Amino acid sequence: MEVIQLENVSKMFGRGDRAVKALNSINLTIYKGEFVAIVGPSGSGKSTLLHTIGGLDAPTEGIVKVEGESIYSLSDEALSILRRRKIGFIFQSFNLLPILNVEENIKLPVLLDHMSVDPIYFEDIIDYLGIKDKIYASPSELSGGQQQRVAIARALIHKPSYILADEPTGNLDSKTSDEVISLLQLTAKKYKQTLIVITHDLKIADKANRIIEIEDGSIKNDVSYT
Ligand SMILES: Nc1ncnc2c1ncn2[C@@H]1O[C@H](COP(=O)(O)OP(=O)(O)OP(=O)(O)O)[C@@H](O)[C@H]1O
Ligand SMILES: [Mg+2]
Repeated sequence: MEVIQLENVSKMFGRGDRAVKALNSINLTIYKGEFVAIVGPSGSGKSTLLHTIGGLDAPTEGIVKVEGESIYSLSDEALSILRRRKIGFIFQSFNLLPILNVEENIKLPVLLDHMSVDPIYFEDIIDYLGIKDKIYASPSELSGGQQQRVAIARALIHKPSYILADEPTGNLDSKTSDEVISLLQLTAKKYKQTLIVITHDLKIADKANRIIEIEDGSIKNDVSYT
């Protein structure tokens, strides 16, 4: 099933002489349950593409549809609700709040949404991610890999349909990177999520079932593996 569609999406930053075309007429369809790796040189538009897909940054031209709905036609409030409830973001820097403990960091997005956390689901994800014995720790007491697991748990807490990750292993050694990606794959399978990961690491791209190569804001290659 087609879940994300980009139709002639372009994104310009700046004006006049300093204008940069970060995305150049992108057409792209992503199907439910895919694990897509986005690769390409620095400055090619990968993060811009991910932000555009995830409702964080409107394109200058074109349409982005999530489950058939043109997301940038929504009101700001409706778009932020869609983003919060359907999309889990994971970034290279873990962005954990140092004054909150692990449990509070994970639950924060749900609490900010004035909803309650399903305790069984919470147990399930911390168990799965192997951070059960760390929930009262402060982020500063954790290793990089553990911090990234907490960030993954936080991205999962809303039961999103889409996990969008921008170099989630960029700050991790190769063994920890492998573990983090395997966990993302497992959770994506378990919770039936579509996974889109930007990476420089070819070993990670190898695990994906589709690799999209971006160059100068365009799709240079798009290969699916079965
Ligand atoms: N907020 C912004 N304002 C102006 N230009 C921007 C902005 N964000 C990105 N750009 C420009 O758009 C282009 C694409 O940037 P983008 O961050 O998407 O690249 P990237 O492929 O993610 O690179 P990297 O691998 O280094 O993270 C670059 O030329 C960048 O300088
Ligand atoms: Mg980037």
